[in-house]
Amino acid sequence: MNRKDLYRYIDGQFKINDKVNLFYNINDDFSDTISPIRPSRDFLDICREPRVELIDCLKQEYQRDEWEDISRYFTTRVIRIFTYNNQYLYFKRESQEKLKEIYRGFIGNIYTLLNRKKIDRQDIEMELYKHSCNLCDFLIATNGNDIFNRYRNRYIDKLVCEEYSARLQLKILKLDLNHIVEPILDIGCGESANLVKYLRKLGFDAYGVDRSLKSNDYLILSDWFDVDYSKEYWGTIISHMAFSNHIWHHKNRKDGYVLDLYNKMEEILQSLKIGGRFIYAPSLPDIVSYICNIEDYNIKKVKIGPNMKNDRFYTTIITRV
Ligand SMILES: C[S@@+](CC[C@H](N)C(=O)[O-])C[C@H]1O[C@@H](n2cnc3c(N)ncnc32)[C@H](O)[C@@H]1O
Repeated sequence: MNRKDLYRYIDGQFKINDKVNLFYNINDDFSDTISPIRPSRDFLDICREPRVELIDCLKQEYQRDEWEDISRYFTTRVIRIFTYNNQYLYFKRESQEKLKEIYRGFIGNIYTLLNRKKIDRQDIEMELYKHSCNLCDFLIATNGNDIFNRYRNRYIDKLVCEEYSARLQLKILKLDLNHIVEPILDIGCGESANLVKYLRKLGFDAYGVDRSLKSNDYLILSDWFDVDYSKEYWGTIISHMAFSNHIWHHKNRKDGYVLDLYNKMEEILQSLKIGGRFIYAPSLPDIVSYICNIEDYNIKKVKIGPNMKNDRFYTTIITRV
């Protein structure tokens, strides 16, 4: 067994658990409790005799890098699942390091278990249960309680996070391609980056950033918090159903991280060239209150459609003057 096989087992575990509500049935009483995370058949099989191959593989991995790579693999996969199911979750770099430590501990516990003479299914369940508890603590510590109150059933419903055609986005964002200033950056461009690809096809110098996409020389796989936007660089920054939606969500939550988003917004605005524009939809009602140096910007709101009454159904165009 080698690292590739190990990753295959890990993928199998994630596959059967990617919709489970980790908070389901979690309480302080460890007895008589079924872990929300279920062991896959493959995982149960490799825990049976003979386990030497798995033990050897984990031992080698430990000697190589003290399980650094495997725990990073676990961490990347699980964060992808968390944010796929709920786009409003956010994990700072430091917290991702903490999560890696949780996984290192988990691998250590499984390793100890494997070295026992005899393992029951219950022992495995208990390890998974403890791990579920650790993940729940981690989620609350990083994202607060509020957001998880809606997680009630055994399986979670993915929060809506659609992607839209380039044509629709162009229409909503009121982009005038005859006068658009380059380079263009689409923040939260989506996995398929429809608008970025469309603009590039037309010959525009366009880029996209999203934490769920396949990166290439114009698509950046990153959290928008971790991007260095540079100063006075972008001609046009767009964000359709992404950045402003997150501000709205976090502003309306007791324990949201709206201040971090305001700070990022400030940085995004400063990354515009003079005459550059940040265009986003939906709008935010009190945008002015969190822009410092307001005199440097011109703010315009344009109604998305004639029959849309809600004051968020506007596109906001902020020009750096
Ligand atoms: C509703 S989708 C909109 C996608 C695209 N703008 C469109 O209109 O088709 C929101 C996008 O924001 C991305 N997103 C959410 N939070 C993010 C973050 N912190 N960093 C980077 N991307 C993020 C999601 O991955 C998702 O692709």
